Amino acid sequence: MDKVKIAASVLTVDFSCLYEEIKKVEKEADLLHFDIMDGHFVPDITFGPKVVASLRKKISLPFEVHLMVDNPQEWIDPFAQAGSDAMIFHLETSFHAHRLITSIKEKGIRVGVALNPSTSLENLRYILPQLDMVLLMTVNPGFGGQTFLPEVLPKIRDLQQISTERKLFFDIEVDGGINQRTAAKVVEAGANILVVGTAIFGLTNPQEAVRKLKEIILKRKEQ
Ligand code: DX5
Ligand code: ZN
Repeated sequence: MDKVKIAASVLTVDFSCLYEEIKKVEKEADLLHFDIMDGHFVPDITFGPKVVASLRKKISLPFEVHLMVDNPQEWIDPFAQAGSDAMIFHLETSFHAHRLITSIKEKGIRVGVALNPSTSLENLRYILPQLDMVLLMTVNPGFGGQTFLPEVLPKIRDLQQISTERKLFFDIEVDGGINQRTAAKVVEAGANILVVGTAIFGLTNPQEAVRKLKEIILKRKEQ
């Protein structure tokens, strides 16, 4: 498997210091993860395209937007123009996933589909060949700082197995409750992008927190 990547999720940072907080992890994280919430699909409201566009000018890391919104099709253009490198929408929000995937890819943006813990992998069957990544929620979406759901581990393994059997090479991303205790478990199950919020920005030294997570993952793989 390729190198495991850490996507730093800024959901739980002090938003009055968003830029400064991101700067702390710029050298060590592989991606920045923005949870876009619309107050409908999930209760809270977070960032709009203007916030992403402003940060894009000042930060060199790749940006991925996790669209936790009811109408993802309405947000593709605005977030593409804001400079997103990857877009992930929830399968639960879209009757026309195929169309959505096509329109994101046409913009030259990496595309991923997110699944809530209760959504079956079966729903991915016919769209998997088009996807750059699949994001498996390891908590119910909407809030940072929740506890990892271990029942998603078999789902990660199943997805990894499907990838091998069908010879499809997409990233397996996990999001929610990933920390120094759970990181090795999800990597072992097959995940190769780990979205981490609280276990990075909730610590006194976020850069060191990313480094430590990478060290734990490496050690696990060497065993
Ligand atoms: C949860 C979000 C996550 C969140 C993860 O709905 O999708 O990206 O920021 O936060 P932690 O790492 O605190 O669980
Ligand atoms: Zn997220």
